[in-house]
Amino acid sequence: MVAVATRSEFDASRPVDLGSKEFAHNKYEWYRWMLEDAPVCMGKVSVMKVNLVSRYEDCRMVLTDERFVRGRALALGKKGASQFPFPISILMPRAVKAIAMSMIQEDDPEHRRKRNLVNRAFTPRAVAELEPRVEEVSHELLDSLEGQESFDLLEHYARPVPTRVIAEMVGVSSEDAEAFHKSVSILSKGMTGYSLVKTLLWDIRSASKFVRGLVARKRQQPGDDILTGLIEAEEDGDRLSEDELVGMVFLLIMAGFETTLHSISNGLRVLLEHPEQLERLRAEPELWECAVEEIIRHRGPIHGTKMQYATEDVMLHGYTIKKGTPIMPLLGAANHDPREFEMPDEFDISRSPNRHLGFGIGNHFCLGKQLAVMETRIALKNLFDRYPDVRIAVEASKLEVAAMPGWHRHVGMPVTLR
Ligand code: HEM
Repeated sequence: MVAVATRSEFDASRPVDLGSKEFAHNKYEWYRWMLEDAPVCMGKVSVMKVNLVSRYEDCRMVLTDERFVRGRALALGKKGASQFPFPISILMPRAVKAIAMSMIQEDDPEHRRKRNLVNRAFTPRAVAELEPRVEEVSHELLDSLEGQESFDLLEHYARPVPTRVIAEMVGVSSEDAEAFHKSVSILSKGMTGYSLVKTLLWDIRSASKFVRGLVARKRQQPGDDILTGLIEAEEDGDRLSEDELVGMVFLLIMAGFETTLHSISNGLRVLLEHPEQLERLRAEPELWECAVEEIIRHRGPIHGTKMQYATEDVMLHGYTIKKGTPIMPLLGAANHDPREFEMPDEFDISRSPNRHLGFGIGNHFCLGKQLAVMETRIALKNLFDRYPDVRIAVEASKLEVAAMPGWHRHVGMPVTLR
């Protein structure tokens, strides 16, 4: 059942609940208010209070200025302080903490060390080599949809394209693929509200068991894949520990397909809502790359980064961001900031320049950007080429947007092909 969006009541004295259905459905109205009247405001992510910044320049600053770091303990100057603020630190079992940590939560030099180890799998050349396989996977899936009246695009197309690609990159065998998919999809559904507790206590444990098994199998039977590369990789005589390996595999899995799946489905919706842009794309297919960048700017799936923490009190727009407090740059809002983008609410597939923040900025800039753009382009282009009459089967207002902080994604997307 789709939440009926009530009128947004903008009120700077109350934290903006990023996990509410109301926010999920009206987020662009909230963003407009923040961009104009509340450039720094308080937000709520699950049980945590966070500072929110929305303007392009402020988001860029928070992600590139050395006064902001990922490590809470580092920000507080307290060695050994928990990375996770109370009460999450209490809820999270010790064994799980190690696994929930990965380079996206870390600062240099630790972050750089890990990123260097995995970087080579994502060079432009390595990604270009994957292109024929992505084409193949996309066509196989489109073949299987032939003759179907209506189906959920997320489950039957947008999810399997990046899942298969990342599973093959990591080196998950076809026998393991189903268990892999199951363990990971549980995780990505349960990161808010009460289910967060279940996720922390149970799902991460079971998924980590699966990934640990995978690492053990790779050690015995090395292959031509990222995981084998990571197991064998050495930087200055240094290797990843078992926990670090598991953390990295998790990160690649979560970052690698949850995001792309929603850029494909958000892209389908936005192109169908702008038929003149779709027509232009059909006439000028060389614009696809640029169109995908605009999809990510206009309706990208990631609207907030991981938490940053201030290492000292920082004054911004008359508001003090206190040392050690979390801050989340709202990339989705920054991408609609009129200070940076001309007519920011227009969807323009030939927008130039388009320095959007949909892939982040700074040290943690998306490692898989090229892969993500390539997968989204191929998946959408093939879908429109093969099934030119593809339509969303319900009115756009009936599509449910997930109430997940930091995301812009749909719960389902029923489509018809004719
Ligand atoms: C359209 C799809 C994608 C979008 C919108 C996206 C967006 C982002 C964003 C915004 C960040 C920065 C987060 C932060 O600062 O906390 C990020 C980081 C990251 N992304 Fe992506 N991503 C996508 C696809 C991918 C893919 C396909 C992969 C690889 C398989 C990937 C791997 C990563 C990794 C490993 C990081 C962390 C980098 C670091 O900490 O140094 N992403 N992504």
